[in-house]
Amino acid sequence: MKKRILGRTHVEVTPIILGTWAIGGWMWGGTNQSDAIAAIQASIEQGVNTIDTAAIYGAGLSEKLVGQAIRGKREQVVIATKCGMRWNSNEGAEPVASVDDQGNPITIRKNSKPDSIFYECEESLKRLGTDYIDLYQIHWPDSTTPIEESWAAMVKLKQQGKVRAIGVSNYNLSQLKIAHAIHPVASIQSPYSLIRREIEKEIIPFCIQEGISVIVYSPLERGLLTGKVDAKYTFAKGDHRSKNPTFSLENRKRVGVALEKLRPIGERHAATLAQLIIACTISRPGITAALVGARRPSQAIENAGAGKLQLTDQELSQITEAFHIPNIS
Ligand SMILES: NC(=O)c1ccc[n+]([C@@H]2O[C@H](COP(=O)([O-])OP(=O)(O)OC[C@H]3O[C@@H](n4cnc5c(N)ncnc54)[C@H](OP(=O)(O)O)[C@@H]3O)[C@@H](O)[C@H]2O)c1
Repeated sequence: MKKRILGRTHVEVTPIILGTWAIGGWMWGGTNQSDAIAAIQASIEQGVNTIDTAAIYGAGLSEKLVGQAIRGKREQVVIATKCGMRWNSNEGAEPVASVDDQGNPITIRKNSKPDSIFYECEESLKRLGTDYIDLYQIHWPDSTTPIEESWAAMVKLKQQGKVRAIGVSNYNLSQLKIAHAIHPVASIQSPYSLIRREIEKEIIPFCIQEGISVIVYSPLERGLLTGKVDAKYTFAKGDHRSKNPTFSLENRKRVGVALEKLRPIGERHAATLAQLIIACTISRPGITAALVGARRPSQAIENAGAGKLQLTDQELSQITEAFHIPNIS
């Protein structure tokens, strides 16, 4: 898979990145750890060079599994992780009550205070079993801490050599501009799929202009765009998707109609619907990479296969057009 440069750094990422939120189990109805490790290793074998995780995913579990999966092959892998979502601190913004995978209550807060960022970086390095992180990202803006202070802490980590590149996630345009004026932002992580294209209005044009990479998350709409979520599909207990309005019966039907339009293209290329969606997403202007989640090796192999697809401009337009579904997201 041909790699792409991350922002104005020397870090190179594949356009398909494995996302490991679901692998942490939290909010996804639990995890099967051996499947998770095998999925990470299968992605790497299939040419995916970058793995995205976060401290909050499974309250450290996702990072630990990534660390186990890449043991002995650290140099082959680009690790992207995130700080700024604390489950073990009383400081920060927007406390949200949640439960860990054992059912224990936890309170999650957005916390990008410099001391917290330094602490979290050390903890992530330990869990990942490495002495450097390739891309370190602030997961969500924290309204109790000026962005200038958070970003200065990230710059310091870079100067110390603990991280190679620094990025943000879920920042709006004005927040991104504040950070970028202090030190170049390597990348922004934002939600994006063929039914959720809001960032094409402001974020992507600014990033193209400034040489900031855009790494999009949930390109499969958490499985909805793979074709498997029909009207009868049910999710495991504790899986957030069962209460997510994007998965309403009405939306499942409308997406099903759009996916049917893709079948002839899939047949021509011997490609699955998920592969067509991923290939189309990474071909969109200004998108550096798509973070695609997978819970087991079969999904990881299928998703990585999208990197080999060669779709024509006409096919890419047909796919994009099929998902112009008003008011779906
Ligand atoms: N920065 C942020 O705030 C943020 C937020 C969300 C996500 N992310 C990142 O982006 C990554 C990807 O996003 P996401 O996990 O939300 O959504 P996604 O990639 O759109 O969907 C992933 C889920 O879809 C299902 N799936 C994947 N491949 C499939 C296939 N080939 N066929 C059928 N089903 C398939 C799997 O779930 P099942 O097997 O359970 O159906 C998988 O966990 C995350 O892992 C995380 O790294 C970041």
